[in-house]
Amino acid sequence: MSVSPTPYDRLGGAEALCAIVDRFYDLVETDSAYAALKAMHGDDFGPVRQSLARFLIAWSGGPRDWFTSRPGMCIMSFHRALPVTSETAAQWAHAMDRAIAADPGLDPDAARLVADALDRMCRAMAAQARAA
Ligand code: HEM
Repeated sequence: MSVSPTPYDRLGGAEALCAIVDRFYDLVETDSAYAALKAMHGDDFGPVRQSLARFLIAWSGGPRDWFTSRPGMCIMSFHRALPVTSETAAQWAHAMDRAIAADPGLDPDAARLVADALDRMCRAMAAQARAA
């Protein structure tokens, strides 16, 4: 029986996902369009760059160490404790869309699938913050 490739495989594995996260946080750190999102973070983006990359690797079908090292941790619940707004959620999704689109070598269908899924996750985080 053949197993369908995961988004992780289709995007090019850990190297491609780490590069996406680096481009994402480079944008957040330097582009004033994401000032509100940047202001939610501390001064050192190193740990969050690493954690987001490891999360995306696990979530997209790669090695699952982000989940196994934090048993029971839910990314939606984690963000419920943060002051997420519709504005910062839209900034997150926009920066991630650009970070993904910046690599023309990515499988376009997998890139769209992942960007759309992350966009929906951001909308859900904004909705749960509004409902709180
Ligand atoms: C709704 C828009 C979002 C906002 C405003 C936001 C904001 C933040 C902030 C401010 C932090 C740092 C928290 C701290 O200082 O401890 C953070 C951490 C993190 N975010 Fe988000 N985020 C958003 C969406 C997402 C999405 C969609 C994902 C998953 C795909 C995600 C994954 C993570 C991860 C993995 C961390 C690091 C958790 C840790 O290791 O402590 N975020 N986020």
